[in-house]
Amino acid sequence: MTSPPHRIPVALPGHAYDVLVGDGLLAESGHLIRGLDRLGKKCAIVTDTNVGPLYAGLLAARLVEAGFTPDTITVPAGEGSKSMPVAEDICRQLIRGGHDRGSFLVALGGGVVGDLAGFAAAIFFRGIPFVQIPTTVVAQVDSSVGGKTGVNAHEGKNLIGAFHQPRLVIADPRTLDSLPDRAYREGFAEIIKHAAIRDAPMLDRLEALPPRGDITALVADNVALKAAIVVEDERETAGTRALLNFGHTIGHGIEASAGYGELMHGEAISLGLIAAARLSSTRSTLPTADAERLRGVLARFGLPLALPSRITTDAILGALSHDKKFRAGQIRFVLLSALGKAHLSEEVTLADIVGAIESLR
Ligand SMILES: NC(=O)c1ccc[n+]([C@@H]2O[C@H](COP(=O)([O-])OP(=O)(O)OC[C@H]3O[C@@H](n4cnc5c(N)ncnc54)[C@H](O)[C@@H]3O)[C@@H](O)[C@H]2O)c1
Ligand SMILES: [Zn+2]
Repeated sequence: MTSPPHRIPVALPGHAYDVLVGDGLLAESGHLIRGLDRLGKKCAIVTDTNVGPLYAGLLAARLVEAGFTPDTITVPAGEGSKSMPVAEDICRQLIRGGHDRGSFLVALGGGVVGDLAGFAAAIFFRGIPFVQIPTTVVAQVDSSVGGKTGVNAHEGKNLIGAFHQPRLVIADPRTLDSLPDRAYREGFAEIIKHAAIRDAPMLDRLEALPPRGDITALVADNVALKAAIVVEDERETAGTRALLNFGHTIGHGIEASAGYGELMHGEAISLGLIAAARLSSTRSTLPTADAERLRGVLARFGLPLALPSRITTDAILGALSHDKKFRAGQIRFVLLSALGKAHLSEEVTLADIVGAIESLR
């Protein structure tokens, strides 16, 4: 490692932990985990069929050197693994491997592995510790921080889960080098979202970032931003954490109606962000030039700017009506009053939403 890692404390009462971000940090993971208290020797690395062959060997070797006895559980890569049957299968493999309440899990992979392994850790023996080693942009800047774990139900995404905070998060941006371009770029939708709701100067940095340039400091700053929100509103009851849904109402509708897998999550969110920025100009005080600027940054990362014509507005609205945020009958929409300043609004009407979707064509 060239420079010392960034350390971002997530100061949650009763379960505080650190997020470490540093180039080459995966190779340090054994002794970093050794430094945690109240951990047994037995552990299991949970990874997927893409990430395991690349990084699980090094991680297992470092864990052994640090005195742990790791097993490795590999699930098929892809969103399909975020399911109850796979979570149960992980638990059963753990039982057969002689694991009990004294074991811990290490989630090595993207958001799918993090959510799934975190959920398995939450329910195995009513909860065992886990460590996150996120290997996608999305997982490093978003999903590994905050303790939301879970799986999908046939009826909808993320409907079964638990809050379970990790004991440590180790983010090594060097692991992102093996990410395919499309998956890499997709993660920037969440970074641009973070900048839009809380950190306008981050947009300058994004505008200046060379393609696949060093993002270590950027990852660390995104973690700090998300950590601050999580600490303010751990269980999404105060409204602050809901601001992270900026761009996600219409974005989820687009993602679901495109058929999952057609548009990647971040690609659908790119369109959701553009629509929400436009609504922020009509229903709040965001200058239209700033909404355009946001669109320009999304364009810079090769994210979609226009809705594929085969996705109808009706289909998006249909998908929206299943959205958790629509359940109460009232639409709570995240708007920007300025770049870097988000708020919840109940003034957005269905007609506004239809207009914003149409403006994406
Ligand atoms: N818990 C939260 O707060 C939260 C927040 C945002 C997203 N999520 C969840 O995260 C999931 C999406 O995460 P994701 O985008 O990381 O998807 P993912 O985990 O499916 O990873 C994307 C693809 O990249 C592969 N991959 C991962 N790391 C790699 C690497 N370093 N090199 C090469 N290939 C690699 C994976 O095998 C997979 O095929 C969704 O299920 C979403 O619901 C959760
Ligand atoms: Zn998202």
